[in-house]
Amino acid sequence: MCGIVGYTGPKRVVPVILEGLRRLEYRGYDSAGVVYLQDGRLIKHRAEGKLVNLENRIDDAIIAKAHIGLGHTRWATHGAPTEENAHPHSDCSGDLVVVHNGIIENYHSLREDLKSKGHVFSSETDTEVLAHLIEEHLKDDLVEAVKAALKLVDGSFALGVLWAKQPGTLIAARNQSPLVLGVSEDNGMLMASDIPALLPYTNKVVFLEDMEMAVITASSYAVSSLETGAEVEKEVKIIEWNAAMAEKAGYKHFMLKEIYEQPQAITNTLSGRINPETGEVFIPEVNLTSEDVTKIDRIFLVACGTSWHAALVAKYWIEKYARIPVDVDIASEFRYRDLVIDERVMTISISQSGETADTLAGIRIAKQLGSKVITICNVVGSTMTREADGTVYTHAGPEIGVASTKAFTAQLAALFLLTLQLGQLKGTVSLEKSLELGRALIDVAAVIGRDLKKMQNQIAELIETFYDARDFLFVGRGLSYPIALEGALKLKELSYIHAEGYASGELKHGPIALIDKDMPILALVPKDAVYQKSISNVEEIKARQGRLILIGTEGDDHLKNITDDVIYMPEVHEEMNPLLYTIPAQLLSYEIANRRGCDVDQPRNLAKSVTVE
Ligand code: M6R
Repeated sequence: MCGIVGYTGPKRVVPVILEGLRRLEYRGYDSAGVVYLQDGRLIKHRAEGKLVNLENRIDDAIIAKAHIGLGHTRWATHGAPTEENAHPHSDCSGDLVVVHNGIIENYHSLREDLKSKGHVFSSETDTEVLAHLIEEHLKDDLVEAVKAALKLVDGSFALGVLWAKQPGTLIAARNQSPLVLGVSEDNGMLMASDIPALLPYTNKVVFLEDMEMAVITASSYAVSSLETGAEVEKEVKIIEWNAAMAEKAGYKHFMLKEIYEQPQAITNTLSGRINPETGEVFIPEVNLTSEDVTKIDRIFLVACGTSWHAALVAKYWIEKYARIPVDVDIASEFRYRDLVIDERVMTISISQSGETADTLAGIRIAKQLGSKVITICNVVGSTMTREADGTVYTHAGPEIGVASTKAFTAQLAALFLLTLQLGQLKGTVSLEKSLELGRALIDVAAVIGRDLKKMQNQIAELIETFYDARDFLFVGRGLSYPIALEGALKLKELSYIHAEGYASGELKHGPIALIDKDMPILALVPKDAVYQKSISNVEEIKARQGRLILIGTEGDDHLKNITDDVIYMPEVHEEMNPLLYTIPAQLLSYEIANRRGCDVDQPRNLAKSVTVE
């Protein structure tokens, strides 16, 4: 939530900042702002709404000389999404500016105190408190003033600070919100909330940890602890992603591009981790032995949103193949429950970003209680990967669309591999079985790649009848139940249609009352172990005149007797249906949102990386 960018170096700062903000806009798009230092003065431009509104206000001719500055794209927490509340925020003198991602929890008392000392506030934000608090401590040493101010702050922050009177220096600081430095000999130094903003200039990055601060000049950076003041030696990491991977590559939307990247994302996630001849699974990163796995009494899967749906699928797989009981928790509930966790429990967090505040808090608690923590994550070097005992990276590449697609199917692939590894180590999955299942996983990527375009064409035609619905239901049983939930989430977040996902067997316990001739219901009915039960549930819907769309297995002619709206999917191994059946659910939501003229990549009120709780 919120994206910050800072730059100092030989390039003209404003284009660098704007390009960075464009690449971070998925983090929030309520307002945007930029500040740069020119002729000894800080010049700020801010605009309500999307980045384009800010870009339209900046006259290229007047920014030629500036080489240091900060930028921000906002997801509003405190204060309405107005221009006054847009970052950067200044102190009383206008010589000091701050951009911030996070929440200052004690901002109210700090603000009252600062007001009593004569500070004048011009926004409703918690962030503005930081600018005045630093000003209050500022004599001639910016570093000391920032440190002193941050000692008084409770809450989370990723912070960029610029002071006109120390013109070559940017300060970066972090606590519980992500911040990464970009290091380049030729292009200067950067800071950003996420890697895509750095990629046009460098692939060398330094991740700041909680309670660390960096002093940045055009050719250097020095990191120190906010607690002790001691210098911290940092490792420079090389990022494999390149700038083009974070572009649309001719697709109308990032989301569509990312839907089409799924076969590759799944293949990359499997690559080198399963022997297609023997079925042996290698995930050395999680560092598990047979002895470790035999000792595990229970697994907790902890995640939010779409990643939570991946966890729900994994429960079926792990219990079936590794024979370990699994609890699946929404992270925001998990972190505040009285957990029964000890060293015999393994906790697995699932997160595309690796920065989701609730999931991160969840694994910290699990670790404190003695649990081994593994994370399934897409973003290399993110906080979760640094705090977990082991990481299974999904190699989906950067996901920019706010609605998660390729990260989800890559998570499923990683979770299935992990299931096989647990089963092999525990002795519940033979190599022969593993080979059969591993090959099924490899094959499903190819099947998706082959049929994606056909599915999209069919769905684009089908949605003409449904795109203006007010409500939508998604139903499925067994492995299809989490996919029904995922379909409903995708539709509501993208098209603002009210949608719910249900386990088909649960309908008659209440939700069936919603069904009438105007209610579209998408039912997932693959030929699987619960097929007959699913069909009975679909018949119950039909008897109440629900407008059914069925997604089922090629060759299942019976479906045509139930409704005209059938989408046939190729037959794959039953365990792989969640990966395959997710694709039409994603495409349906995409096509409906596109047809309704919604902002597919940046739906209202959302941000990609939810770094506040
Ligand atoms: O980065 P994470 O996987 O931890 O994010 C979790 C959710 O915020 C995310 O999946 C969200 O629900 C997406 N908007 C769904 O499309």
